[in-house]
Amino acid sequence: DYKQLVDKAYEKHNLDKEEIERLLMPENSEDEAYLFKKADQLRHETVGDFVHLRGLVEFSSHCRRNCNYCGLRRDNTSLLRYRLSPDEIVDIAHNAAMLGYKTIVLQSGEDEFYTADIISDIIRRIKQNDDVAVTLCIGERSYEEYKLMRQAGADRYLLKFETANPEHYAAMHPDMNYDDRIRCLMMLKDLGYEVGSGNIVGLPGQTIAHLAEDIMLLKELDVEMAGIGPFIPHSNTPFRGEAMGTLEMTLRVVAIVRLMLPYANIPATTAVGTIHPQGRQKALMAGANVVMPNVMPSQYRPRYEIYPSKICIGEQPANCRMCIEGIIRSLGREVGTDYGSYKAGQ
Ligand code: SAM
Ligand code: SF4
Ligand code: FES
Repeated sequence: DYKQLVDKAYEKHNLDKEEIERLLMPENSEDEAYLFKKADQLRHETVGDFVHLRGLVEFSSHCRRNCNYCGLRRDNTSLLRYRLSPDEIVDIAHNAAMLGYKTIVLQSGEDEFYTADIISDIIRRIKQNDDVAVTLCIGERSYEEYKLMRQAGADRYLLKFETANPEHYAAMHPDMNYDDRIRCLMMLKDLGYEVGSGNIVGLPGQTIAHLAEDIMLLKELDVEMAGIGPFIPHSNTPFRGEAMGTLEMTLRVVAIVRLMLPYANIPATTAVGTIHPQGRQKALMAGANVVMPNVMPSQYRPRYEIYPSKICIGEQPANCRMCIEGIIRSLGREVGTDYGSYKAGQ
């Protein structure tokens, strides 16, 4: 039955597609609670009770892509775009380090204004100032570019595959292709980045089978990080009026990914905190062990509108830092004090 299948996942970390589909559809709340409980238990036993914070720097809202779900897509002409100078980026990262962040995430739309040389300089300057790990989340680039940025000191890279089903991928991404996405992930692995990938839960046209394929692909890629967030419709995209992803399904995917990838770093995403006031807390109790608070000055925050009603829009970095520590402590957990790197099987 359901609980036996959860136990199997907890012990073997290996399920086939049909078994994952069954776990995604518990028949009652008791079964679902058992899934979350075992994922939380495994999280405690593998990656422990520290919650690692990543300071998120959203340094440019310009994007050459046109992903159907995203508010930064290039056809959204109502967005007032911005680009930070390297000096500003380095300053924001330094302020984050002063607030205690041990990882800086540099994220943007796919903005070719920032060449690999420019990004490399920024990484070097950040690392000269402070003892931090640097994660990049800037989309698809060439092997050479990934290599330059890795040599400059980038430790990790986040590139979600968004959906593991090639036809579904094509329907979400009018100007990208699935094979390129996977090729980029392979290049990043090859270059020794800690690689993060993941999906969006509740994308239009998504089925339970698709979600099971997403989880299988995360396992196959053996990612060091898995980002799982609900779809939130944006009115200036083709997906306006579509249904939002649900909290329940997002939490189930988080929990199953924890059972399948015991040592992965799994964030309680900003998106899950946006669809429910306790969303991040619930994710942290269903397998997640990372949070990525925004460290941008508040004047830029409304202008990086991936989806509407994003949390923390009016906050300053210090507020979010205190708020998140309160949340973590309220769950009986501690803020991580090291880089929070991937710890395989220790
Ligand atoms: N441009 C880079 C990329 O796509 O990898 C990084 C920035 S992009 C805004 C970061 C993530 O936002 C994407 O991987 C996607 O999963 C997520 N995202 C975009 N639009 C979303 C939406 N409407 N709902 C939920 N997540 C969304
Ligand atoms: Fe651009 Fe990333 Fe948004 Fe796609 S998800 S439109 S690549 S910012
Ligand atoms: Fe930003 Fe709570 S994390 S206000």
